[in-house]
Amino acid sequence: MRNKIIAVDGPAASGKEKISKYISKKWKLKHLDSGILYRRLALIFLNEKIDIKNLNNINKKISEIATISYQNSKKLRTQEVSKLASEIAIYNTVRLYINRLQHDFVKKNKNYQGFVIDGRDIGSVVFKKADLKLYIHVKPEIRAKRRYKQLIDSGEKSIYPKILKDIKLRDNRDKLRKHSPLVIPKDAYLIDNNGTFLETTMQIDKLILNKYL
Ligand code: C5P
Repeated sequence: MRNKIIAVDGPAASGKEKISKYISKKWKLKHLDSGILYRRLALIFLNEKIDIKNLNNINKKISEIATISYQNSKKLRTQEVSKLASEIAIYNTVRLYINRLQHDFVKKNKNYQGFVIDGRDIGSVVFKKADLKLYIHVKPEIRAKRRYKQLIDSGEKSIYPKILKDIKLRDNRDKLRKHSPLVIPKDAYLIDNNGTFLETTMQIDKLILNKYL
């Protein structure tokens, strides 16, 4: 494989990150989690108390930022940042800026044999020509249960019905927004991640072996 791209899309808390890390390790592909970029930008707006209802404020701030880090961090995983990230993701200027960062990332890392990139619009918009597109499906109740456990394990206070409500809200925002809504790309393979992780990775490995290599 050389410079190939696997796109992993799906709704909030569907396990895209864990799945992409697995693919990255097993198939030696560089991983990019595009959600981190939305979260990093949201954290900047939060720390600088920028009113995100005003598009001029967003445009001004974006024009001042040369680049943002691709690194994950615990600060990015709070419910406050999750909510704000999905709120700023409705703006086309935000999306164009983050899409450019993703293309730059791929260009800068040409020495890797390929990439696994996860998000909401990777196969449908950002890397339309990806070599393999996966769409991760998990019921909202299972996603909420897993996210609840994750937050409790990491020491955050958490209430299951609130998590479920937030997940459904983020799903609606992602699916109904005007720019790059969350869709299942026509040529994507549906991956059922309702069961065990082993069941999920078996579906993926079979696809990669048959379709990708
Ligand atoms: O994937 P993650 O939950 O970390 O993403 C945070 C938020 O960023 C999502 O709720 C979504 O609204 C937005 N996002 C997006 N497009 C992407 C990645 C994330 O709209 N490619």
